[in-house]
Amino acid sequence: SRTVDRGDDGAVRVGGIDVRRLAEEIGTPAYVLDEEDFRARCRAWREAFGSEADVFYAGKAFLSRAVVRWLREEGLNLDVCSEGELTTALAAGMPPERIALHGNNKSAAEIERAIEAGVGRIVLDSFQEIVRVAHTAERLGKRQRVLVRVTVGVEAHTHEFIATAHEDQKFGIGLAGGQAAEAVRRVLRLEGLELVGIHSHIGSQIFDTSGFEVAAHRVVGLLKEIRDEHGVELPEIDLGGGLGIAYVSEDDPREPREIAVALREIVSRECERAGLAVPRISVEPGRAIAGPTTFTLYEVGTVKELAGLRTYVSVDGGMSDNIRTALYDADYSVALVSRASTAEPMLVRVVGKHCESGDIVVRDAFLPADLGPGDLIAVPATGAYCRSMASNYNHALRPPVVAVKDGVARTIVRRETEDDLLRLDVG
Ligand code: LLP
Repeated sequence: SRTVDRGDDGAVRVGGIDVRRLAEEIGTPAYVLDEEDFRARCRAWREAFGSEADVFYAGKAFLSRAVVRWLREEGLNLDVCSEGELTTALAAGMPPERIALHGNNKSAAEIERAIEAGVGRIVLDSFQEIVRVAHTAERLGKRQRVLVRVTVGVEAHTHEFIATAHEDQKFGIGLAGGQAAEAVRRVLRLEGLELVGIHSHIGSQIFDTSGFEVAAHRVVGLLKEIRDEHGVELPEIDLGGGLGIAYVSEDDPREPREIAVALREIVSRECERAGLAVPRISVEPGRAIAGPTTFTLYEVGTVKELAGLRTYVSVDGGMSDNIRTALYDADYSVALVSRASTAEPMLVRVVGKHCESGDIVVRDAFLPADLGPGDLIAVPATGAYCRSMASNYNHALRPPVVAVKDGVARTIVRRETEDDLLRLDVG
């Protein structure tokens, strides 16, 4: 993140605060979030897309009340995909019209809650849901603004579990075989729904713009079909999130501006060809905003050298605070942050303290050979899908999120306590 540097004695400072002081005050493991960096990324997205587009931050990456306030202040909207995220958004004062509700299996309660609250849009994901949302809106005497989520058939070059636009998966309604066109027909017939656009999300941790371009091309194709069949020009298209970030130095992410320019160009060109007015574009970045803003601070416990094999560095967290290495074979880097070292680098595997050999935080990393118990190490780029996917495996207490800014550290999500664990255990 942007405000990380090293002090004279080699210890890392973030937002003006020494990590050793952070560890003392808040303990480890902890997620340390650079608030100014988070806000700057929000602004970069807003500015890149300008006033003719909307940026919906994808709350699944990381959501808390403080985050909602930052989004509100920086002019971003919010994409939620569950009642829990919706509750957080509303509790923190996000204006409902700036909220979009997603999900492939929204419950009746979620739908009702969202419509009642007045969310700006619901992204429809199936034929059954079209009917459910329409009926709920009619019963509540409302007309709900909706988008239809389509699968455009793009093979995004990313891990299978986070690719979402190929045809054989649970999200969206296929463009192929006229399914999406049929969904639009049904939506347009229902009183309780106001169709404002088409939505597509091709996947996550994507580095090249070509997948988005193909998606935009196909979505505009559908807009044209809709115009030709129904005589309506839908005012919006949402091209989802998915922009990749640098987890390790080889990763080469695109800037928001590059994505914005590419999308605007392709959408304008395709619309011109089809004789359509250019719709408003929305995007839903999650990882690209939250990911780089945060590092996880761990304390080294044991260092175990297996002669001829490798060295295992165990930290006081693990797969309960970062499941991504085990789940997606994700790459991370790591650095010694509590002091300088001139020792030779050694190849290590950073592992957690869970009862499972797949509990790996960083598969292969170089750390100084004099590393030992009590040293603090940091794993960068853990702001997205780490705290939000954290678990209590082995009854681990989920770490806090601490926002640093101008030399002040503020806990925005506190560390879980044993009382928190026992409170849920009512048997
Ligand atoms: N919009 C929709 C409809 C989505 O499904 C997602 C992510 C996003 C936006 C935000 O995508 P982003 O910009 O953050 O890539 N847990 C996985 C990522 C799953 C993403 C699911 N949907 C991970 O840790 O990599």
